[in-house]
Amino acid sequence: MKKKIFSGVQPTGNLHLGNYLGAIKNFVYLNNDTQNECIFCVVDLHAITVSQNPKELKSNIHETVATFVASGIDPKKSIIFNQSQVSAHSEAAWILSCVARMGWLNRMTQFKEKAGKDKEKASIGLYSYPVLMAADILLYDSTHVPVGDDQKQHLELCRDIAQKFNNDYKIDNFFIVPEPLIKKEFSRIMSLKDGLKKMSKSEVSELSRINLTDDNDQIINKIKKAKTDTLPLPSTTEELEKRPEAKNLIGIYSSLTNNTLQKSIDKFAGKNFSEFKEKLSDIVVNEINPISLKIKKLLDDKVFLEKILKDGCEKADEIASKKIKKIHEIVGF
Ligand code: AMP
Ligand code: TRP
Repeated sequence: MKKKIFSGVQPTGNLHLGNYLGAIKNFVYLNNDTQNECIFCVVDLHAITVSQNPKELKSNIHETVATFVASGIDPKKSIIFNQSQVSAHSEAAWILSCVARMGWLNRMTQFKEKAGKDKEKASIGLYSYPVLMAADILLYDSTHVPVGDDQKQHLELCRDIAQKFNNDYKIDNFFIVPEPLIKKEFSRIMSLKDGLKKMSKSEVSELSRINLTDDNDQIINKIKKAKTDTLPLPSTTEELEKRPEAKNLIGIYSSLTNNTLQKSIDKFAGKNFSEFKEKLSDIVVNEINPISLKIKKLLDDKVFLEKILKDGCEKADEIASKKIKKIHEIVGF
């Protein structure tokens, strides 16, 4: 059976190694399998759930498309488009927000983290964000959704919404209940400055993340300055578990070399960090440098990037507008 793949990335700048290893690398792999139909969405409606500078948003949309293409997603094989240009997303999000329950949304940990202490000041969009995400996925009868570990709870909510809609309106399988595709290992890359915090676009310190647009010197410098402890590298996974920074760096190495954690541990057991960091820098530079150069080149060709989005929007709109029409009929509009 053909897999229908859907995923989204927010155009909020600073796409980093976490985005790449947790999500985009998997997108490329799925794009390359001819059995799959893939849709990759630049979720600009999600981006404005927190305040955005309009000029920067526009350029971040271009940068996200450039990153997709530079990483290896072929716009001829996969649909690449931006969410705001297909109006069915906003419409379906409203209808599904009448299906989703407050109790379900109240459990979302990402909202709690992002809203921080002052929840009263968070936008309503930030709260209902996962409902829009469910709309994105369900409009395309998506069967599989590749994401990083932090999106697991949102996907469970999407499954609940799909099932409740099907039950409430008594139409079996109208919405396909999608399967998450979250890698068992390396689906949560941590900050280079704090092994207990997720690598994030919004972290103030540039040293906390490797951006996909970083040049070689920046990458080498950031790895050199990455936080570690004073012990040599461990020889067992149990030992590694207790050392978050070492675990993260070994995880990055393993993910990029397609090795198991155990194999990497065996390779570096007893070595000191400086030796390991040199090897890690080589591997990261090798993978990121070609992508970084391609992103920069693509950003000089805005006409090409706009054309990808325009073509993608037309194809996405064709699918989504049919689905929203059926939703209207089912709901009784
Ligand atoms: P976002 O930038 O929040 O739109 O995330 C885009 C994709 O990258 C989603 O699938 C996230 O789960 C994934 N992602 C974001 N940060 C990380 C991270 N630190 N480690 C692994 N995956 C991540
Ligand atoms: N919420 C996701 C994130 O922040 C982005 C996203 C929006 C998404 N819509 C989606 C991911 C649909 C997968 C499917 O990373």
